[in-house]
Order: sequence, then structure tokens, then C-alpha cells
Amino acid sequence: MDQNQAKKAAAEAALKYLVPGELLGVGTGSTVNYFIDALAAHKQDIPGAVSSSNASTERLKKIGIPVVELNEAGTLSIYVDGADEADKHLRLVKGGGGALTREKIVAAASRKFICIADESKLVPVLGAFPLPVEVIPMARSYVARELVRLGGNPKLREGFVTDNGGLILDVSGLSIIDPLKMETEIGLLAGVISVGLFAHRGADVLLLGGPNGVREVLPE
Ligand code: A5P
Repeated sequence: MDQNQAKKAAAEAALKYLVPGELLGVGTGSTVNYFIDALAAHKQDIPGAVSSSNASTERLKKIGIPVVELNEAGTLSIYVDGADEADKHLRLVKGGGGALTREKIVAAASRKFICIADESKLVPVLGAFPLPVEVIPMARSYVARELVRLGGNPKLREGFVTDNGGLILDVSGLSIIDPLKMETEIGLLAGVISVGLFAHRGADVLLLGGPNGVREVLPE
């Protein structure tokens, strides 16, 4: 089973969490794209979805799933999204696709966060994947200096503007021993829109695709 097959298997395994008659939250990325494709066969069961990015919105609409504004939706029963890294406590690094802020909002507004990924995403310590930090453009240099002070090596994602008009700093060199503390610390820097650490609100279930099928991991 290659990585794409593993992503697809994890995505399809998330269908069993659908709550018939209720809206769901949908994340962003290649694993979620498999999930959206699989949703096509279940669209009669759900009234619509809240999307975390313009890319997912387009894909949902293409298969005929109504996209609803979060402000109109209230609390969502489930949120399905991928991750760039996950640890055994289901704290995540996200934002490789640049949609971290909306992903964080929809995750926060959902009762259950189901994370779908191939098994390479499960790591002992977060931080090998550069941590995305979304910033207001005028804060870019200030935040970058502060990130260096925290031990990181920030790099501007060239030619990329988020759905919110923000810029992304990808921070390498961090060994994230205390994800809760780091999420708070970076999140409090002036000009940061959001940080791609999902520790305070991590996932509730991780569906990991691999050669032996899909494994369900709960937070330790
Ligand atoms: C999007 O901004 C990210 O948070 C994605 O969830 C993450 O990058 C996982 O992407 P893949 O499913 O493409 O690996």
C-alpha cells in the first residue's frame, strides 16, 4: 500500500463517524480530498458541510454538497481533517496547506475532531515538520525575530497568501517538547493570526492508514 492508498483508506474509514441529518466540518489537504470524494456517495445523509478552505469549498460544491457558513451552523457534531504530524496524545502540527486558521476555528467549533492520515504522520515528538505560523503581513519580521528567540528558524512561504490575506512563516528546528506551552507562547505574539500547533484542541480520534489497514488511535 503506497502513501496515497493509505490516505484514502483512512479517509474512507472516517465515513462511519458521519451523523445522519447533521452538518459536518471538513478540513483541507490531499487526505481530506479523498474524504470529500467518498462523501459523494453519502450526500443524501447530510444537509451540508462547513469548509475550512476555498479549495475544499470548491471540491464540496462540485459534488453537490451545500457549503454552509460556520456562523449559520452552530456547533458541529464532527470535524474531519488531516495533519502534518500527530503525537500519541493526538496533538497535531497542521497548516502544510496553509489553511490552519480556518481549520483551527472549525475544529474548535466541533464536538469531535477526527483526524485522518497515513501512518508516517505519527511521530514521537512534534517539530520535524516545519511549524506553520500565519501572520498579519506587517508583523512578518517582528514575529520572525521572536520565533528565532524561541529557538526556531522561520522561513517565509514565498508567493503564498492565505485565504485570510495572511502570510505563512514555516518554522524549522523546533523540538516541540511542550506543545501546549509553545502553542500559547507563539499564539500570544502580536501579529500572529494562528499557529499550526493543535495541542489545546487536538484530535479526539486518529485514523491511521497503513499496510495492515486502518488503525484507530485514541489520545493517551
Ligand atoms: C492544511 O492546511 C493542513 O493542515 C493539512 O491538514 C495537512 O497539511 C495534511 O495534508 P495532507 O492530507 O495533504 O497530508
